[in-house]
Amino acid sequence: MAKTESFRASLDKQPQEVASMFDGVAKRYDLTNTVISGGQDRYWRWATRRALALRPGERVLDLAAGTGVSTLEFAKSGAWCVAADFSRGMLSEGRFRRVPMVAADGMALPFADDSFDAVTISYGLRNISDPDLALRELYRVTKPGGRLVVAEFSTPVFGPFRTLYMEYLMRALPRVARAVSSNPDAYVYLAESVRAWPNQPQLALRVADAGWSAVKWRNLTGGVVALHRGYKLD
Ligand SMILES: C[S@@+](CC[C@H](N)C(=O)[O-])C[C@H]1O[C@@H](n2cnc3c(N)ncnc32)[C@H](O)[C@@H]1O
Repeated sequence: MAKTESFRASLDKQPQEVASMFDGVAKRYDLTNTVISGGQDRYWRWATRRALALRPGERVLDLAAGTGVSTLEFAKSGAWCVAADFSRGMLSEGRFRRVPMVAADGMALPFADDSFDAVTISYGLRNISDPDLALRELYRVTKPGGRLVVAEFSTPVFGPFRTLYMEYLMRALPRVARAVSSNPDAYVYLAESVRAWPNQPQLALRVADAGWSAVKWRNLTGGVVALHRGYKLD
């Protein structure tokens, strides 16, 4: 598919459609994120790094890492962080970032059991065709005692702000994306997929169902984003 072709995945998220959509969005992906989030993306990535509480020398998997912008943020901790994604277009767009990158499907990770001290996924779980399977795969590759942090769009907690935000998602965001993105239709998908995504307590239950213990979440920007954390007990 040509990079300039406008294309979005359907909400049933066929893996091939999702990969093609991200290949098409890769070109100006980082810039578009910063514009549509009003610069909040940098704060959200910093907060995700803090929630991971990484130590130098730890091994970290950043799944659905896209262009590796999140991986690079986590690597500032001195931990060894690998970016994994199944869109070669996204990985290739971030190839100038000095982080190891692996083309991999989050539903069948090419890593041995108990390989990582921490695993994380930023704005990717919502896009995976079977998020519950991905959560179980993340659990499998985490060492006993290791942790998970999921950064994902969520549901603003304050009613009037939630209404405004949903208006922004459905009306303004696609227009802003048209001005900046290499694949504006992907941002219609973004808006639809955020609306269809479970809220904070619903996602916490799904994380726990995948095996993770002591699952808690923290809201960022009033719940526009939530960080869910869990542990793999021995
Ligand atoms: C919105 S981007 C997030 C990229 C990056 N984590 C960030 O914070 O900017 C979502 C990513 O999920 C990836 N993705 C979706 N389904 C996947 C799967 N089954 N396996 C691996 N990556 C997947 C897409 O290719 C895309 O790069």
